[in-house]
Amino acid sequence: YKNKFLKECKTNIKQGSSEHMPELILTYRSNIKNERYVSIMFTTYYSINYSTNVIETINYDLKEDKLLTIDSFIDNKDMDVLANRVINKLKDISVGERIELAPITSNYNNFYLGANSIRFFIRSDDNLDVSIPYINIEDICSLRDNKEVGIITDILNVPEKKLDPNKKMIALSFDDGPNNRYTPELLNILKEYNARATFFVLGDHVEAFPKVLERMVLEGHEIGNHTFDHKQLSKLKDNEIKEEIDKTQKAIKAVIDYEPKLIRPPYGEKTKKIKAQLPDNLTLVTWSIDTLDWKSKNTNTVVNKTLKECKDKDIILMHDLYPTTLEAVRILVPELIQQDYQLVTISEILENQ
Ligand code: NI
Repeated sequence: YKNKFLKECKTNIKQGSSEHMPELILTYRSNIKNERYVSIMFTTYYSINYSTNVIETINYDLKEDKLLTIDSFIDNKDMDVLANRVINKLKDISVGERIELAPITSNYNNFYLGANSIRFFIRSDDNLDVSIPYINIEDICSLRDNKEVGIITDILNVPEKKLDPNKKMIALSFDDGPNNRYTPELLNILKEYNARATFFVLGDHVEAFPKVLERMVLEGHEIGNHTFDHKQLSKLKDNEIKEEIDKTQKAIKAVIDYEPKLIRPPYGEKTKKIKAQLPDNLTLVTWSIDTLDWKSKNTNTVVNKTLKECKDKDIILMHDLYPTTLEAVRILVPELIQQDYQLVTISEILENQ
């Protein structure tokens, strides 16, 4: 695209026809479907003496380790069923225009797997696209709404929580997850020592990692709301703050049927304006020790700061985003237990204040 763009720019300059500054903007978005299919949508916008927006997608199957095409999950014999549904949907959005779209796989290979629907780009150059909810093609397609994946059916299995109110307690908390890179290993470490923690998750991450969330609940941890996409709430309008919070509660509820009781706004903001938008069943919490793990990205700094400052009923802030934090937890958990701390959730601290 870059070469094509530069070439066209040069031609334009030679012809003296360029009236405005040429622009080339490349953006992408991505989604992981069912913890297996990676979908990436590239948008190339360029403007020379005309402007155009081209959308292309790449889909990859992590399990089979190969590129994903439409026939990977829709049988060839069902292609005409799919074509019918796409064409019907097209009729609704492109009034008066007749679109021919034969039921052959090559016509349907430019697609994006969203959380709840599959989006087909019919003509990549003029943004004609159709979204088909998975639920409308469940008879021919094995993909499902993310919310149907990983729902905990056996919530009764939550481990019994032992807690001695007379013994020291401390709450480790991790913000900005979940992810597949560090969160599962973090859960492994906590599990090894039978320790509990609190995870403040982002709403727009939860759909992609239902299994990780499920583990959190089943292994006795607490999940808190960290807003949908980490916006600075104080800069938003009241209704936008409310939406950031509600959307996240709903996303978590949809994936694992769990309702967070705690919210930690990004950057630990706790203004009146934010508090006014909280539903009654959500408590705003921040922390008492900030490890600044994001800043130092140094295992020893995180460990030393925590051990030097910690006392009974402290809430420690970390992020499940860095390998250095993971290593710090590997050292801290046994050390804190050695010092007679019970590693508990933030709600458990609040209940025992
Ligand atoms: Ni954060």
